[in-house]
Amino acid sequence: MSIRTFHKVLKKITIILALVMVFAGGVYAAGVDSALIIRPKDSTAFAVDKGNSDALLARGEQLWNDKSLSKKGKTACSSCHKTSTKMFKTTFLETYPHYVKMASKKAKLDSITAEGMVQFCMVVPMKNEPLPWDSEDLAALTAYSEGVIQQKYIEAKAAK
Ligand code: HEC
Repeated sequence: MSIRTFHKVLKKITIILALVMVFAGGVYAAGVDSALIIRPKDSTAFAVDKGNSDALLARGEQLWNDKSLSKKGKTACSSCHKTSTKMFKTTFLETYPHYVKMASKKAKLDSITAEGMVQFCMVVPMKNEPLPWDSEDLAALTAYSEGVIQQKYIEAKAAK
């Protein structure tokens, strides 16, 4: 290869690399509108009381394993959170609301509620719409995430 062709090839590689970096940078920096994750002031929440808490946990367990919650219908919460510790960081040991790295990075939130975390994972990893704010499903998935999944995480960490 002559020096000239070598330089031409080098130039092409540089251009391609630059394009890849710009593209990857855009994707990486792409955030999510925190309005999708923070409960709107004028919304009402599904009422949780002692009478329906067991039913909510059972519904929450179903939803946790339900692939139809994701945009493409191929991912459930349990697809990523396969075990009691998978894809969780130690912030999950703390009571809500608390700091979660991914929510801080993507939605610029200093702190997030359990419900907010459900909506965050619905919108970001599951690539779907948030659940309706007054829905039983949101209340169920929140109750299950906090009451069962978080408790299992705390127990698993304590056992280590
Ligand atoms: C594509 C993978 C993926 C899917 C699917 C997913 N999550 Fe997550 N989730 C993550 C990651 C990664 C984290 C850790 C974020 C961090 O700590 O910065 C996380 C963290 C969490 C946390 C704990 C955060 C904390 O420290 O308090 C909860 C609760 C949670 N997810 C709930 C859900 C629910 C509910 C669903 C289904 C609607 C779901 N996740 C689907 C990747 C996923």
